[in-house]
Amino acid sequence: MCGIVGYIGGQQAAPILLDGLSKLEYRGYDSAGIAVYNGEKIQMVKSTGKLKALEELTQGGAVLPGFSGIGHTRWATHGSPTDVNAHPHFNKDCSITVVHNGIIENYLKLRKKLEGKGYQFVSETDTEVLAHLLDYYYNGNPLEAIVKVLYRVEGSYALGILFKDFPEEIYAVRKDSPLIVGQGKEGNFIASDVPAILKYTRDVYFIENQEIVKLTRDSLNFYNIDEEEVQKESTRIEWDMSAAEKAGYEFFMLKEIYEQPKAVADTLYPRLKDDGIVIEELGMTEEEIRNIGKIYIVACGSAYHTGVTAKYVFEGLARIPVEVDLASEFRYRDPIFQPNTLVIVVSQSGETADTLAALREAKSRGVRTLGIVNVVGSSIAREADNVMYTWAGPEIAVATTKAYSTQLIAEYLLAIYFAKVRNEIDSRQFEDMLHDLKKLPDQIEFLLGGKEKLQHFANRYLATEHVFFIGRGIDYAISMEGSLKLKEISYIHSEAYAAGELKHGTISLIEENTLVVALVTQKDLYKKMLSNIQEVRTRGAFVMAVATAGNTEVEKSADYVVYLPETNPYFANSLAVIPLQIFGYYVSLGKGLDVDKPRNLAKSVTVE
Ligand code: AGP
Repeated sequence: MCGIVGYIGGQQAAPILLDGLSKLEYRGYDSAGIAVYNGEKIQMVKSTGKLKALEELTQGGAVLPGFSGIGHTRWATHGSPTDVNAHPHFNKDCSITVVHNGIIENYLKLRKKLEGKGYQFVSETDTEVLAHLLDYYYNGNPLEAIVKVLYRVEGSYALGILFKDFPEEIYAVRKDSPLIVGQGKEGNFIASDVPAILKYTRDVYFIENQEIVKLTRDSLNFYNIDEEEVQKESTRIEWDMSAAEKAGYEFFMLKEIYEQPKAVADTLYPRLKDDGIVIEELGMTEEEIRNIGKIYIVACGSAYHTGVTAKYVFEGLARIPVEVDLASEFRYRDPIFQPNTLVIVVSQSGETADTLAALREAKSRGVRTLGIVNVVGSSIAREADNVMYTWAGPEIAVATTKAYSTQLIAEYLLAIYFAKVRNEIDSRQFEDMLHDLKKLPDQIEFLLGGKEKLQHFANRYLATEHVFFIGRGIDYAISMEGSLKLKEISYIHSEAYAAGELKHGTISLIEENTLVVALVTQKDLYKKMLSNIQEVRTRGAFVMAVATAGNTEVEKSADYVVYLPETNPYFANSLAVIPLQIFGYYVSLGKGLDVDKPRNLAKSVTVE
């Protein structure tokens, strides 16, 4: 996703903008640019490629002197990655410039209207429309011009805006794309995400939809769309910058794989009190929990995969029917809600457009919503009726690992708590499950010790073209995540398949030496899985099995077995996913790819 930054204060702006953009690189981009007011005019430099090119072009910002500016990393949506399409964009006399994260959905109509009024466009972007529209409405009052533009545009945006006539001010506004404001000692900031400004301030303001911010060197003013001033509280960011640095690891992804024991413990332990589960932020009485008639779990990507696992856990333990939906499908399929429904939306970033839209769809129908979110203060966290945070800390690598693992923990805790309140499990089962949960951080730590063996195995598959992940029940859900981890960072085609379904067509793709990763953690499905392994092996597949320790019978069927420590079958995903993450990581590394920033992908998909 695009990243925006802005600064106004007593320091030279350009180096601060470049530094802020470097902290947003993880969002994925293909060009970058900055614009700075130099005392007379707004100077701009932009370039395709990585930020390094822009840093060289601007000599680290030295060629752009000035104390106020905006910057942008662009993840191309409308118009290919070129210098001209890179942000910022100017109006015709270069007196207004804008950076934008999001999509203006009615930009073509607006562009035609502006062209009809004599405006000329130089780029293919939707963003340039904003620059000319601001020009069209501007008559000396920036706030008024911005509000008029907001009434005309449709879509999502986080904007940073500079007006040459008001060099002591920067303006910002958002709708559906993330935007924060930072208040520092040496000036004030705007950014798409906290890492961009954490070096300068911990005091941030999370901006609501269509709130406009006016920043000066030493003041912040917030306005609603009626141009009325509004008061806002700041939030103190507690995590430190090192959490958002690589700390000696070659890639963030490996660092975050290794942070999983801590992330799981940080999400789990604060909610285990006096031998029970305490989820204060849930906001539901026991009566309301007993009355829940149905649960929807709605998410995208890996977060969706945790929902597929959670379905088995909620239904198995709490006996509550669960429907798991891809957010991009849920929001358009006009779901039929029964009374006493709970919609749980799961999102690491809390800004995924489809998941946010699904949340709003549920709320518009009067359905109770709960967010399971990692980024504090994100849109989903603030708009859900209640939010249960995962405490994974900042996750920078595009491929999620620790956030995924903490989402599972949050779902387990909810399912066990609901099961207890609804008297579906007895005290002994409850205690046994809490005991198993508490062991997970150490068991994950143990599995991380198997890294070298998996790296060696991964190096045998760098040239492979197709990999299949198969499993039954919860193992099928694990297969989905294993498959996504591999393909999104190694670009190798892979599929997750319900093992029992292979013979209904897909098994025709299995040939000599096709790698099949078989998940075999569910005791009650062992036998079935062993026969599915046999099915693919007789057709030439090489089978890597991921099985629970003690199930040595699988060695008779599989070519290579990774064993997991014993745990409650409902929690197996938390362990089985570790070798799959490591496998995907080392295939990508072995192929010499940018593991943290895979091609075409962004960390937070804030557009549809
Ligand atoms: C998974 O590795 C990907 N990064 C992607 O599937 C991600 O899980 C999905 O885009 C959802 O993101 P969210 O959790 O921030 O909503």
